[in-house]
Amino acid sequence: MEKRTIRDVDVAGRRVLVRVDFNVPLDERGRVTDDRRIRESLPTVRYLLDRGAAVVLMSHLGRPGGRVVESLRMAPVGERLAQLLARPVQVLPDCVGPAVEAAVARMQPGDVALLENLRFHPEEEANDPDFAARLARLADLYVNDAFGTAHRAHASTVGVARYLPAVAGLLMEKEIRYLSRLLENPDHPFVAVLGGKKVSDKIGVLRNLLERVDAVLVGGGMAYTFLKACGSSVGRSVVEEDKLELARELMERAQARGVELLLPEDVVAAERPSADAPRRVVPAGEIPEGWMGLDIGPATARRFAQVVEGARLVVWNGPMGVFEVEPFAEGTRWVAEAVARCPGITVVGGGDTAAAVDQFGLLERFDHVSTGGGATLEFLEGKELPGIRVLQDR
Ligand code: 3PG
Repeated sequence: MEKRTIRDVDVAGRRVLVRVDFNVPLDERGRVTDDRRIRESLPTVRYLLDRGAAVVLMSHLGRPGGRVVESLRMAPVGERLAQLLARPVQVLPDCVGPAVEAAVARMQPGDVALLENLRFHPEEEANDPDFAARLARLADLYVNDAFGTAHRAHASTVGVARYLPAVAGLLMEKEIRYLSRLLENPDHPFVAVLGGKKVSDKIGVLRNLLERVDAVLVGGGMAYTFLKACGSSVGRSVVEEDKLELARELMERAQARGVELLLPEDVVAAERPSADAPRRVVPAGEIPEGWMGLDIGPATARRFAQVVEGARLVVWNGPMGVFEVEPFAEGTRWVAEAVARCPGITVVGGGDTAAAVDQFGLLERFDHVSTGGGATLEFLEGKELPGIRVLQDR
């Protein structure tokens, strides 16, 4: 279902309450270390400002659990936003209440304010109707641009839409457009590359994609559960013993559907995931006792790259190994470069995969790198996200 966006409404002279996902990582000195989610919200903010709206932004930051946590105040985020927008951003001391209402009432077209961390109030995550109504009092239009939080039914993502006309922002629109393309009438050959630590995190995605793709390439920690399910010796590699049967069932499903499911043929193994541990490339089925697979090997990387480069549509979610530790980053880098070279449409899941792609300096080389972590996975599982459901249909 297509949603109405800010392009479908007149915003001139209005006060617009925009839910963004500014849940960004901070270092120990409270500085923003990855501002991608802030940068991705700029088109929406600029669009509204250029058309004469006053913009009131709101977000959560971390998981303060319904109380004020000094290290999770929005001030550093507001500072970064002001730099990126090259205009002042007023960071308010709270997100509801008379002082906030008075400050917002004084705003003029072209002004930007950022409310304090929504999750300092337990009512946010409880989706408390009264709290949602107090947020709604601050504006006359609600925009949700927080795709990364759209899987949460909270006051600022769902509740507030009961009190204000609710439309999508431009980032939300872009996320829905690209991710829907993977599920509705995808181009073929359609290849999914799945990795990350656990099979259990990806079961829903794998099941849903198996009905649509031509090939699935499985790497990362989750591959060892599949390998063991095929009878391979995986040494001390991470295996989810209770998912072996499920792995077999998924492989049978792939075969029944004529989907090529590729597992690693070789891996980089070591005694432990540290840079100084002795390591070697071994066949995937022959990981020595006491060793663990920590990355896909070069033969696998070449094979995966070949399949990816022939695709017209690729979705990639989950690193191929422990990419944070340099000697085990090669497989993920190889796949990232292959996806970047693919002439088809390329979509990268958020979270760890986006971090890996950023680490390799390849962010700009994909058609879309999602800003969602859990939200992207739930979308790809085929679930309707509550924060999208409440937005007006076109
Ligand atoms: C995310 O980082 O995935 C979103 O901001 C949602 O955060 P949460 O998992 O704390 O709800």
